Amino acid sequence: MRIAITGVTGSIGTQALEVLEFLREKDYEFELVGVSAGSNKEKMIEIIKKWKPEYAALENVELESFNKTKILTGIDSTIEMLEKSKPDFVLVATGGAIGIKHTLKAIEVSKRIGLANKESIVCGGNMLLEYAKENNTEIIPVDSEHSALFQLKLGDIKPSKIIITASGGALRDWPIDKLNEVTVKDVLNHPVWSMGKRITVDSATMVNKGLEVIEAYHLFNLKKEDIDVLINRNSHIHAIVGYPDGVMKFHYGVPSMKIPIAYSITYPERIYEYEFPDLTLEPIKFERVDYNRYPALKLAFDILGNQLLQIVYNAADEVAVQLFLEGKIKYTEIYKLIYQSIDEFINKNIEINEFSDIILTDEKVKNFVKGMVL
Ligand SMILES: NC(=O)c1ccc[n+]([C@@H]2O[C@H](COP(=O)([O-])OP(=O)(O)OC[C@H]3O[C@@H](n4cnc5c(N)ncnc54)[C@H](OP(=O)(O)O)[C@@H]3O)[C@@H](O)[C@H]2O)c1
Repeated sequence: MRIAITGVTGSIGTQALEVLEFLREKDYEFELVGVSAGSNKEKMIEIIKKWKPEYAALENVELESFNKTKILTGIDSTIEMLEKSKPDFVLVATGGAIGIKHTLKAIEVSKRIGLANKESIVCGGNMLLEYAKENNTEIIPVDSEHSALFQLKLGDIKPSKIIITASGGALRDWPIDKLNEVTVKDVLNHPVWSMGKRITVDSATMVNKGLEVIEAYHLFNLKKEDIDVLINRNSHIHAIVGYPDGVMKFHYGVPSMKIPIAYSITYPERIYEYEFPDLTLEPIKFERVDYNRYPALKLAFDILGNQLLQIVYNAADEVAVQLFLEGKIKYTEIYKLIYQSIDEFINKNIEINEFSDIILTDEKVKNFVKGMVL
């Protein structure tokens, strides 16, 4: 199998390479034919030296040439890498809405995608899923909750209830009236998962859970009222499906993204190995979500199914989180900026008919948020 990875220098990309190392030891047959990233030149050079892919793309900085690897640079070099490397499987692990371009190209050039970039479904919605269908390309979700749902629903009748779990993020026990004082360091100190910076901040605000609710709604063709979110502090339960007769199936597993990454690559086989969790160590416990602490999750439910507002929600958060990480706004302003952006764009007559409308709208919202702060 010819494999390509976009966003190879990031948290998911790095873990994917570790999974590939494991699979190689198990004699799983594959070739890493293409990789891409944004600006992390040092890491990209390490990856090229170790893996010698046929193509490597770096979008935002120049890169010297290599013997065995063709180097592509500039915006759209990921697209070129995907076209030229002819992968059978693409892991789309790019961070941010820019990843939608990579998912669309991956849909065109390969037969199966491991989709980590949740923004693709949040912004592309059913349009993107239709496009995958037209191209006969299978999408295997990599987000742990969606991988869990995908596995739970396999070969089964449609559940009448879906529960996605959340860890609650780094600030789950902070007094709500102290949230406007938290520092970047406080927020990046995630209790369970080790992830990229944006998703770690998004876990604290639960924007990440909001994006996941939207992703699940589209991926599994759900009704809004059938989706719920519960806090499971140690993130051992990733998702639950319930049936009309009251039976609920839980997906239990230790919190490691390598498991869903590996599953997306080797599906329907399970070649990756990991120890079983010790079931006697901790009770299985859930808590209700306090929407005063996590208003952004409530907002995600409010806009569910409205593609324009889903694009706005994601774009506003992407910029707001960046501004927070740069020390330009307070933590509590992230939600305010998302809310103000929804308020601004809700009555604008913007139609999303083409994929290019998504990119344009994403840019407009990002400029709006920057204009509010800078
Ligand atoms: N981390 C997790 O545990 C996790 C779990 C579930 C889902 N996800 C989703 O997976 C995606 C990646 O998350 P992450 O945590 O791995 O993020 P991350 O650590 O910030 O990595 C993002 C990756 O995207 C690359 N990138 C950014 N702009 C690019 C561009 N224009 N062209 C090509 N590559 C570009 C980055 O390259 P440079 O760093 O070189 O600029 C980096 O390799 C996100 O959509 C996230 O929501 C992540």
